[in-house]
Amino acid sequence: AGSYEHILTSTPKPGVGLITLNRPKALNALCTPLFKELNEALSTYDNDQSIGAIIITGSEKAFAAGADIKEMAPKTFAAAYNENFIAPWSHLANTIRKPVIAAVSGYALGGGCELALMCDILYCTEKATFGQPEIKLGTIPGAGGSQRLTRAVGKSKAMELILTGKNFSGKEAGEWGVAAKVVEGGQEALLEEAFKTAETIAGYSRVAVVAGKEVVNKSQELSLKEGVEYERRLFHALFGSKDQKIGMTAFAEKKKPEWSHE
Ligand code: CAA
Repeated sequence: AGSYEHILTSTPKPGVGLITLNRPKALNALCTPLFKELNEALSTYDNDQSIGAIIITGSEKAFAAGADIKEMAPKTFAAAYNENFIAPWSHLANTIRKPVIAAVSGYALGGGCELALMCDILYCTEKATFGQPEIKLGTIPGAGGSQRLTRAVGKSKAMELILTGKNFSGKEAGEWGVAAKVVEGGQEALLEEAFKTAETIAGYSRVAVVAGKEVVNKSQELSLKEGVEYERRLFHALFGSKDQKIGMTAFAEKKKPEWSHE
C-alpha cells in the first residue's frame, strides 16, 4: 500500500489489510481527499491476492464524525450536482469484492455512520456513538444512511433516528442488529475481535468468500425468488472451482484443506 496523508495502512496479521482513518484534528471527518485515499487503499487491498479481508477503523475517540462540514458549508446545488458530490463514496459498496469489516469505537456520525453501514460486517464497542445528525445541519443523510439504516433497523426506528438526529449507542447497535458484535472495552479489544474474524475469513478460499459476499449482498437488491435463484447459480458455478474439490476432498480424507484460491 502507498503512503497517505489522512489514513494509515498496514498488514499486521497475514491476509488482513488494515485501514486506519487518521485525521485526528477533525475527528476523522471524511473530507474529499480522505475518501480518495480510502478508495485507493481499498482497491489496492482488493487487488492484492495475499489479502483475504479488510478492516476499516478509526481512533478510540472517533471512527469518523461525518462528512467534512467545513468543506460542505459553502457548496452550491450546482457544484454538488455537477461534481456528483460524494458519489465516489459508493466505491466501497459497489466495487470492493473482498469482505470489509468496520471496527467502530467512538463517534460514527453522519457519513461516519454511513461508512460503517456500507461495510460488510460491523463490530463496535459498547460506548460507540452512532447517529445521523444531518437534520440538525439543515440537511439529510447523503451516503446511503436513509436506505441502509432503514434496512438494518426497520422503517419506524430509522425514521425516528433520521428525523430527530438522536444518537444511538454501540450497545443499541448490537441489540438492533446493526452491529454483528459489541465489544466491552476499547479500541484494542475491538481490533482484537475484528482481526480474529478477518483472519478466519482470510483463511478460506478467496473464490468462495467473494461469492459468499456477493450472494448476501444480492439479498438487499433482489426479490427472494430471484435472490435464491442467483445464489443457486453461483453455487453451481463453484463446482467449477479448484477449491470446491480441495475443500470437499479434504473433508472426506479428514485433512486440513490447502486452498488454491482458484
Ligand atoms: N466536519 C468537519 N470538522 C469536524 C467534524 C465534521 N463532521 N466533526 C468534528 N470536526 C472538527 C471540529 O470542528 C473540531 O475542529 P476545531 O478544533 O478546528 O474546532 C474538531 O473536529 C474536534 O471536534 P469538537 O471540538 O466538536 O469535539 P467534541 O468532542 O466537542 O465533539 C462531536 C465531538 C460531538 C462528534 C462533534 O464534533 C460533532 O458534533 N461533529 C459533527 C457531527 C456531524 O454533524 N456529522 C454529520 C456531518 S453531515 C454528513 O455526514 C453528511 C452525509 O450524510 C454524507
